[in-house]
Parts: sequence; C-alpha cells; structure tokens
Amino acid sequence: MKEDIGIILSNECIAQDTYRMVIQSSLAKQMNPGQFVNIQVEGTFLRRPISISSYEEDTYTIIYKVVGTGTAKLSTYQANDQLNVVGPCGHGFPIHEDQDNILIVGGGVGVPPLYQVAKEYRSRNKNVAVVLGFNDASQLFYEKEFKDLGCEVFTATMDGSVGTKGTVLDAIAENHITNDFLYSCGPMPMLKALEKVYEKGYTSFEARMACGIGACMGCVCKDKKDHDIYYRICKEGPVFEIGKVGFE
Ligand SMILES: Cc1cc2nc3c(=O)[nH]c(=O)nc-3n(C[C@H](O)[C@H](O)[C@H](O)COP(=O)(O)OP(=O)(O)OC[C@H]3O[C@@H](n4cnc5c(N)ncnc54)[C@H](O)[C@@H]3O)c2cc1C
Ligand code: FES
Repeated sequence: MKEDIGIILSNECIAQDTYRMVIQSSLAKQMNPGQFVNIQVEGTFLRRPISISSYEEDTYTIIYKVVGTGTAKLSTYQANDQLNVVGPCGHGFPIHEDQDNILIVGGGVGVPPLYQVAKEYRSRNKNVAVVLGFNDASQLFYEKEFKDLGCEVFTATMDGSVGTKGTVLDAIAENHITNDFLYSCGPMPMLKALEKVYEKGYTSFEARMACGIGACMGCVCKDKKDHDIYYRICKEGPVFEIGKVGFE
C-alpha cells in the first residue's frame, strides 16, 4: 500500500448517477480482487474509499455512484487529470483453485469489486453464475460485461423493470441457481439474507471510514460469536469469510 498519483484515461457515466473511471498507474500490478483505493478528492478533508473493480497490466478501473460532495466532485474529473490515491488497501477476495461452481451476487454499487473475481474464475474456465440486483433498470450496469466474460448472468430489480421482480434471492430461486460457493457485496439487508442461505464463501463489507489504513478504529465490526473481538473493515477486511462478522 502506498500513495500514488495516476493519470485518468476516462471517466464516463454508465448508469444513473454511476460512473466508470479508468486510471493509468503502475499500482495496478499490486492489486488483488476486492481491495480498494482511498481517493483524495479536491475540496474534501477525508479520502473516499472506492473498490477496485478490475485491473490490467498498468491500468485499473473503479465504478462509483454519486451520493455526496466527494463523489460529485470525482464525476467532474476528466481524461489526463491526476488521481491521488492510497492503495491497494485491505484484504480482498481469495481465489480458490478447487472450487468449480462459483456464485457471485452483487447489489447496486456492491457489484464493482466482484467483476475482477469473475475475471479470475473465468480465466480458469470455472462455471460462474452472476446475480445482479438493482432498484430499477436505470441503475443497472455491467450485465453485458459479465456476460462477455462467459458468466451466466441473472438480474433482479425491485420494480421488475428488468429481470426478476424482487431481490437477488428471488432471482436465485426463480432461475434454480445451484452454484453455492458465494462471493457477495452490497447493501447490509442483502448480505444478511444471503448469509442465512449460504455457508461457504466471502462477503465484502462497507463502513464509514476515516483513516482507511487501520489506525483510527473508526470502521470496526464485531466477531459474530465473540463480541470482544473486533475487526477493522479497512484493514482485516473489507472481505471476510461468511459467518465471521456479526451484523449487529
Ligand atoms: C471498502 C469500501 C469500498 C467502497 N466501494 C465503493 C464502490 O466501488 N463504489 C461506490 O460507489 N461506493 C463505494 N463505497 C462507498 C463510498 O466510499 C461512499 O459512497 C463515498 O465515500 C461517499 O462520499 P461522498 O463525499 O460522495 O458522500 P458523503 O457526502 O460523505 O455522504 C453522502 C451520503 O453517502 C453516505 N455514505 C458515505 N460514505 C459511505 C460509506 N462508506 N458507506 C455507505 N454509505 C456512505 C452517507 O451516509 C451520506 O448519506 C465504498 C465504501 C467502502 C468503505
Ligand atoms: S478507517 Fe481508520 S481504522 Fe478503519
């Protein structure tokens, strides 16, 4: 992990309030699936954590939703601007060579870090089912990108405007998806519901972060069984084995 200044190659709107930014940087060589970068955004004091969606030899991609001051400013950055980040941060998704049937479940802006996971498993020719959940069709992104990797892709929208009407679990049931080694990221209620059904795999958590490097204890969560054990989401996480972290 180090401070790095990359060059923005593109920053485009790919769905409602949702942007994809590609950055040229040698930092890409150090990245693992599910890690994040902590971005310095002009005019804000604290860095903003955003997942690494994918990386190549000397570029990496982030996908972010505009929700406040920092992400709104980020959306105005243009090609050739510089991007100051600290990264790659945290522990990401381990890849299991012995797992043949992978289930990837992403909700909203929880989808981005799962794309590199799909790339890793498809490059090993594994069977990957992907379930993407969004509120409505205007917010959907990366359905085609996952399909292009050779994944089986299913969508769920709360208003039924695309795919199954309802949650990701409704889509899993409707499509009789049996892959059971899970990689998930998304809103808390979705993660909680998935943990009741799946026992093997990994979940990526979010928290409001201050330092982003394990120093302030601002992002802690408790062990599921022993409430005296704490984990820093920015340092020991954001990815944890299913069943390790308590939701309360
Ligand atoms: C490890 C990690 C990875 C993340 N990856 C992504 C990603 O790939 N794409 C993406 O769009 N977002 C991601 N986020 C969330 C992102 O960090 C926040 O949306 C962003 O910091 C908001 O900054 P802002 O200045 O625009 O909003 P603020 O003005 O700071 O806040 C605006 C609103 O967003 C909410 N918010 C702010 N930070 C968070 C947070 N960390 N989690 C949940 N809600 C928050 C606030 O409660 C408030 O309602 C990630 C967060 C973490 C911790
Ligand atoms: S944000 Fe400071 S310890 Fe995680």
